[in-house]
Amino acid sequence: MTTQITSLSQYKEEYKKSVDNPEAFWKEQAETFTWTKPFDKTLEWNFDEPDVKWFLNGKMNITVNCLDRHIEKRGDQTAILWEPNDPKAEVQEYTYKELLAAVNRCANGLKSKGIKKGDRVIFYMPMVPELAIGLLACARIGAIHSVVFAGFSAQALADRVDDAQAKMIVCSDYNNRGNKNIPVKSVVDQAMDIGCNSIETVLVHNNTDGDVEWSDDADVWWHEIIAGQSDICEPEIMDSEDMLFILYTSGSTGKPKGVVHTCGGYMVYTCYSFRNVFQYKDGDIYWCTADIGWITGHSYIVYGPLLAGATTMMFEGVPTFPDAGRFWEICEKHKVNQFYTAPTAIRALMAKGDHWPAKYDLSSIKMLGSVGEPINEEAWEWYDKHIGKGNAPIADTWWQTETGGIMITPIPGVTDTKPTYASYPLPGIQPVLVDTEGNIKEENNVEGLLCIKFPWPSIIRTTYGDHERCKNVYFSAFKGMYFTGDGARKDEAGRIRVIGRVDDVINVSGHRMGTAEVENAINEHPNVIESAVVGYPHDIKGQGIYAYVISQNQQTDDTFRKEILDVVKREIGPIAKPDMIQFVNGLPKTRSGKIMRRILRKIASKDGDNLGDISTLLNPEIVADVKDGALV
Ligand code: WTA
Repeated sequence: MTTQITSLSQYKEEYKKSVDNPEAFWKEQAETFTWTKPFDKTLEWNFDEPDVKWFLNGKMNITVNCLDRHIEKRGDQTAILWEPNDPKAEVQEYTYKELLAAVNRCANGLKSKGIKKGDRVIFYMPMVPELAIGLLACARIGAIHSVVFAGFSAQALADRVDDAQAKMIVCSDYNNRGNKNIPVKSVVDQAMDIGCNSIETVLVHNNTDGDVEWSDDADVWWHEIIAGQSDICEPEIMDSEDMLFILYTSGSTGKPKGVVHTCGGYMVYTCYSFRNVFQYKDGDIYWCTADIGWITGHSYIVYGPLLAGATTMMFEGVPTFPDAGRFWEICEKHKVNQFYTAPTAIRALMAKGDHWPAKYDLSSIKMLGSVGEPINEEAWEWYDKHIGKGNAPIADTWWQTETGGIMITPIPGVTDTKPTYASYPLPGIQPVLVDTEGNIKEENNVEGLLCIKFPWPSIIRTTYGDHERCKNVYFSAFKGMYFTGDGARKDEAGRIRVIGRVDDVINVSGHRMGTAEVENAINEHPNVIESAVVGYPHDIKGQGIYAYVISQNQQTDDTFRKEILDVVKREIGPIAKPDMIQFVNGLPKTRSGKIMRRILRKIASKDGDNLGDISTLLNPEIVADVKDGALV
């Protein structure tokens, strides 16, 4: 197993080692895994291309490390503990032995449908064990998985399928969420009608016994391809740098991009970071509430915990069903030891009242995690007091889809915590704050743009099918550095607080959204001339979506608003629906015709009296008009 740091002096020592000699540091960690053939070089890198390779020429399979290598010691230990949406329904448990067998059967089933190494398989599924099993089955045979969050629309699904040129979609019939039964297969059917020409098979997991339309050409039942398959499937031998998965995420321009992670580095880093950040001990019950449709679910529900031989819980439902005590009821029921969730959920549950957590015994909780967006002080204090009862340190974990794993975080019981601060980097991570010219601000007590100046094993390798884009977005802003897109502050002790995005990405309830993406969706409405989208502070969601829209025919009523929301829902999904739509006669623009989002952001944030110099705009007169009509 990778090192688990247990004291401050050890943290300092490990950190120093990781900076003085990163290769020796990561070599030692990587050697704790099972390799079919050992790597012969630890690292080659060049951030200009970018071209980063870890554990060169090493041969391995990540599922051997997630499953096979644990069988001897913990074959009968629960690997996945599944809590259903309906609190009265039966909990499911897979031991490591059972999970390995299930993964192998599924892998053999996928093979029987022609899936082989390098093929892309899209998952559009609820939080059921079969989702984790499916991902691992892909990894077993070297197929590349790409999970699309099941809240995305048919159009968004088709866009991702087409970009990945996937051969198969795996979905469920319906999805249980709260008191809703959400059709899933029918969304896939719509996606197949819009695009998805590369798809040969739609594999349907019978989750709810619901009625579905069936196409004999493409559709196949999960249970049918699994039936009669062997429990044994020899793992495909993968190179460290073979692709493990693609995960689409939003950027400031264009369509979502497929972030690519590879086998070896991702394996080493997710295991290393999991063991340290969550301080997992044998026998613990670990619960991350994220959806596997996002990176947090990939790294810290599936891969990290299983690589570390942990018991990882998967929850099918939502925090408020049947009531706002559900999370805490589950923590009590399963005696959860590590609990990892998003600030949005904390704020939403905090608003429901202190009496909800008070009803349950939360004494099993040893540490708390937060992820996905900045956590405000009030939420941090509430989490600490009402959930951790003052003795479960909070790990405010900063990281990104592109980083693959947690980068900056307190280590519970090892480094101190400070509300709203992600604090210190994990060993191996070298963050810096830079000014707009890229000069590193070495001193403490400064603000700057957050970059990472040295590679770590799970760094993004490319954006699928478009390496130039990867280079432009992450490696061109500042020479020789990975640029995160975030702004941050360092306090007097060098602790880092991540303030938020400095680009046109907004973070709504911990979900990343590109403003351009939402604008493109809004502009699909025939009566929209132009639109501009910005984020604004939102009490629960962190950021809300504020859209300024120029209407074609002066129509500015609620019917039109509703139509715009429907278009966004159709193009992206309900998570991208604007919270506010303000109709305007024009948008402030620079002389070169670019929308001045800075001004629009200020107006949406009730800071419209503080716009600075607007005289250089192409149309300064429009500003007063926009301000007057502001909805905040
Ligand atoms: C934001 C989620 C402040 C940040 C794992 C980042 C955070 C983006 C934190 C990545 C945090 C994530 N404090 N901001 N602890 N964690 N972020 O790719 O803006 O969905 O760039 O990955 O979320 O979002 P993503």
